[in-house]
Amino acid sequence: MRLSADRLTAARMLMRVEEGAFSSRLLSGGGVPAVRIRVLEVLRSMRVLDAVLQPQCRRKLRTLDPEVRTAMRIGLAETVCLDFPPELATDGAVRLVRRLGRSSASSMVNAVLRKATADWREVLRRFPVDVRLSHPEWLCRRWAESFGNEATEIAMASAQEPAVTWAWFFDGEGPQALARKGVELVPHPWCPGAWSAPEDVKNLIEMVKGGVAYAQDPSSQLVAHIASSPAFAEKNYLDLCAAPGGKAALMLHLGFWERAAAADLRLNRARLIRQAVARAGDCAIVAADSTSPPFVSGEWDLVLLDAPCAGTGTFRRHPELKWRLAPESIVQMAKKQRKLLAAGLELVAPGGALLYTTCSVEPEENEGVVADLPDGFEVESLDAHVPAGVPWIPTSAGGLRILPNPDGDGFTMHAVRRTA
Ligand SMILES: C[S@@+](CC[C@H](N)C(=O)[O-])C[C@H]1O[C@@H](n2cnc3c(N)ncnc32)[C@H](O)[C@@H]1O
Repeated sequence: MRLSADRLTAARMLMRVEEGAFSSRLLSGGGVPAVRIRVLEVLRSMRVLDAVLQPQCRRKLRTLDPEVRTAMRIGLAETVCLDFPPELATDGAVRLVRRLGRSSASSMVNAVLRKATADWREVLRRFPVDVRLSHPEWLCRRWAESFGNEATEIAMASAQEPAVTWAWFFDGEGPQALARKGVELVPHPWCPGAWSAPEDVKNLIEMVKGGVAYAQDPSSQLVAHIASSPAFAEKNYLDLCAAPGGKAALMLHLGFWERAAAADLRLNRARLIRQAVARAGDCAIVAADSTSPPFVSGEWDLVLLDAPCAGTGTFRRHPELKWRLAPESIVQMAKKQRKLLAAGLELVAPGGALLYTTCSVEPEENEGVVADLPDGFEVESLDAHVPAGVPWIPTSAGGLRILPNPDGDGFTMHAVRRTA
């Protein structure tokens, strides 16, 4: 009973995502694990699932009712991604399509899935790598051109794996409480202060819910560590695109700021910053458009611009982004980012710095944006500031890029110094 209810919830969420909803919002707070895993696996593996299903189906998948298409995808994902026996997954999908009100399609779902779940391994071997690792062909090609075939394959394979929960603690009490419960904490291989609990993630998540720890991807934590290092941390700090507030919270936790402020475009997003920084330190929070920010120019020692972006480093957490992006979206994003950068630079004090970062690995959104700086600003190399062991690659502008990898999301970061 429970399993069919979870399948039904997952199917409804997947249909909402098809209509434009974001899976991270629908699953906020974690959700039921059996629902969460179905939603994320179907979205991550959509291309390969469809490629296996289509030859068995007389009609084009995109012309089927969403209920029918979704039930088939869930059924195949249970076999391919979750190792369910084919009969169980097929039977589950048939029941699901009936519960979704499309009983007339149940024998088609049964026939398609019986064939698709029988020989998917053989079929998979014949697909090119972008289909096998379920990424858009254009994106795979552009990554291979920029980063090489091997790095692209590792990045795509990493984006197909569920993200591990990594968290940092507000003080030493949290780890001690977990140790008393017998929970073993494992340190992150290259991000200082990041811990996971692979055998007992529930207890770690309880700590996060109780405000004792903060869950954050290691790449995002790394930005806050570099920003809080002596090269960039002075007296005051301004975060221009701060919600939900992860980097702001860790920077307040790590640094000794005399003054800190954080802004985000909308009030509901600004409220998220308030929750995130509540335990970390004092910070003025403003709902504002950072293309015309309401702050005094030339006053901030450090400005962090963690710009809205195409998010190509975060597909394992936000898998539907892969299917919504097009090459033009990257160009559009870069335009918006240049506007934000121009406004952010005005705020930097002489001798101060702006750290420009995105969770995208696309050159146009990163080195392309900092390529054209006004007089009095120059890019400063980040070489000396990357902790040992970080699997980074330098950008052509002296920045730091991490491609999606088994230990963290992908992102890119550049430092711009005000020299005059
Ligand atoms: C990558 S997220 C920031 C993540 C955040 N720094 C953190 O670590 O939690 C980008 C943010 O930029 C905000 N944003 C988009 N356009 C903006 C604008 N014109 N002014 C201010 N914030 C904006 C979005 O609402 C979003 O919260």
